Amino acid sequence: MTLVAFNSRFHDFDVWNRALRDRLPEFTFVPWPPVEPSRVEALLCWDLPADTGQLSNLKFIQCLGAGVDHLLSNPETPRDIPIARIVHVDQVGALVQFVSASILAWHRQLPLYRRLQSDKTWGPSPRIPSAQRKVGVMGLGKFGAAVAQEMARLGFQTRGLSRSGRPIENIQVFSMSDVTAFITDLDAVICTLPLTPDTIGILSRRLFERMSNGAHIINVGRGEHLIEADLIDAFASGRMASASLDVFRTEPLPPDSPLWAIPGVEVTPHVATSVRLESAIDIVAENLRAAFSGAPISDLVDRQGGY
Ligand code: GLV
Repeated sequence: MTLVAFNSRFHDFDVWNRALRDRLPEFTFVPWPPVEPSRVEALLCWDLPADTGQLSNLKFIQCLGAGVDHLLSNPETPRDIPIARIVHVDQVGALVQFVSASILAWHRQLPLYRRLQSDKTWGPSPRIPSAQRKVGVMGLGKFGAAVAQEMARLGFQTRGLSRSGRPIENIQVFSMSDVTAFITDLDAVICTLPLTPDTIGILSRRLFERMSNGAHIINVGRGEHLIEADLIDAFASGRMASASLDVFRTEPLPPDSPLWAIPGVEVTPHVATSVRLESAIDIVAENLRAAFSGAPISDLVDRQGGY
């Protein structure tokens, strides 16, 4: 019997336990804190619980999210234990929908028409074809690549930025060292990057200054990617005209944050995508089985790469 401890403030233990114990009769799931920490062999968690040092028999960590930056940056996270994250097509599809909704609202000027409506003003603007807009996607992992493909399908001139710079059909791909060429004259930028020491603060004045005037930014990566003060300045100068921010350094976004009230900034409460039990349960079950049978683990975290 393999003992798995469960720790998440976003997921209900009873619901996950019911779904998992039917699939994995050879495993026992217990909520954190476990009665016998030294018997725990796997951790199913969002956050690392306090006192993980007691888990002397731990062999595997399955994160209940796609991003694992919070685990990797925690000095308490054991260095030598495999960690897996979850990336299901349901999460990828949800992110593509969210980004497309934001990009299309910006492209077709829906916020402008909403403002005109509030003044009962009939004010048609010229229609700009999507082929005249340059849209860039930062990060071309499973999420970013799907977003970039959708942007290309919608007809935008689409650029992508990735660590490898590996070519992708219909996308003009740049490697991280070419970030300046990637960003220059972009009309919209979408951040889907994982948070690593190399990407913290990447959404900064240095990039905003090179974008076209009146640009749009979407951040669905992590709050720490964005230097908020630089974005606020970019709005003040008119370089940036609109933003869709779904992730923040501090979540929930504090009531005194200036971001709530900047005209053109749309704040959403980290909802662009999420792990749903119905779709993730089979991945979690398979990964737990794999971790103890030597079979390949899905979406195993590359500790060197940091995601
Ligand atoms: C959401 O942000 C996730 O990492 O799953």
